[in-house]
Amino acid sequence: MKAAFFRQHGGLDVLEYGDLAEPVVGPDEVLVRVHAVALNHLDLFVREGLPGLKLAMPHVGGSDIAGEVVAWGDDVTGWSEGDHVVVNPSIWCGRCELCIAGEESLCEQYGIIGEHVSGGGAEYVALPARNLRRIPSDFPWEQAAAVPLVWMTAWRALIGQGQLRAGQSVLILGAGGGVASAAIQIARYAGATVYAASRSDEKLEHARQLGADHLLRSDGEFSREIWARTNKRGVDVVLENVGAATWKQSVRSIAKGGRLVTYGATTGPIVEIDIRHLFWRQYAIIGSTMANNREFETVMRLVFDERRFQPLVDRVFALSEIRAAHEYLASGEQFGKVVLVP
Ligand SMILES: NC(=O)c1ccc[n+]([C@@H]2O[C@H](COP(=O)([O-])OP(=O)(O)OC[C@H]3O[C@@H](n4cnc5c(N)ncnc54)[C@H](OP(=O)(O)O)[C@@H]3O)[C@@H](O)[C@H]2O)c1
Ligand SMILES: [Zn+2]
Repeated sequence: MKAAFFRQHGGLDVLEYGDLAEPVVGPDEVLVRVHAVALNHLDLFVREGLPGLKLAMPHVGGSDIAGEVVAWGDDVTGWSEGDHVVVNPSIWCGRCELCIAGEESLCEQYGIIGEHVSGGGAEYVALPARNLRRIPSDFPWEQAAAVPLVWMTAWRALIGQGQLRAGQSVLILGAGGGVASAAIQIARYAGATVYAASRSDEKLEHARQLGADHLLRSDGEFSREIWARTNKRGVDVVLENVGAATWKQSVRSIAKGGRLVTYGATTGPIVEIDIRHLFWRQYAIIGSTMANNREFETVMRLVFDERRFQPLVDRVFALSEIRAAHEYLASGEQFGKVVLVP
């Protein structure tokens, strides 16, 4: 089968498009014919190499998969040929204390399909049956692939970990990002007042169309702006993911007793915290990663069954154009998702 992969970590030139053996389907697995696979910033980090990440090579990237069921192993029931599915990209053990408590993304053995094991950047992929989620057959493939990882991440960060509720306010950094653009819609759905920050006026206009109430430049003095627009109060929740470049101002934007939820460090992982500021203002800094299975199901139902949200596809590339697609995502020009079609 055709696949996009790399044999060693590095720049764009390690990416190859060529033939790999079709996957062998295990007893508890389903073979999926991939119709679309979305890129995440994660795909760039994994290609470049992450500390402690040792991969079996060649590695096929792609965590966000939409496709149809082709075949299944002996222990699998409940699927028919041609069923349309998306994939929960989580890997969890199902046996540890945290899995049993329903907190799969806190599992000691937690991993991500496309990061820790090969993903969906190929014509076919074999996946554990428990990771599949049925979707309506009229849902466009490219849009479906744009959903799982970013929407589950945005949902847990805002609603689960961030406890964002109606009537509260939220500042969303890097508004053009895959997760952030989903978060704008979720925050709006939750009934919150949304402040969106981006480096681009064009992206801020997109953010406004998605429901952002206030638009701020993330490369300007956005914490002053927040201060001015909230009558020196700050916002209830700050959704961070840009990292070092915006951290200081993000912290300054939190209201007394508020929360900063972070799920990313795109511009660098090391930041400072002024402890006096932290205890005096009594805010919380909260981490969030992916989502548990309950959160995954909740947000997939809202997107696919109730169609309450608009999954955002910025641009579609052929899988053979994997290098151009990585380059485009790295340029940061996109608003929403970059999708590949085998
Ligand atoms: N923990 C988790 O479970 C989890 C899940 C998903 C993603 N992540 C992480 O979250 C981050 C975002 O992921 P994504 O896939 O949404 O990425 P993405 O689509 O590539 O978006 C990243 C956004 O960050 C903003 N940005 C980048 N460099 C910046 C800078 N120097 N100054 C200000 N803003 C900057 C840009 O927003 P504007 O263009 O609007 O300025 C850009 O669109 C990544 O670091 C990713 O690894 C973590
Ligand atoms: Zn576990």
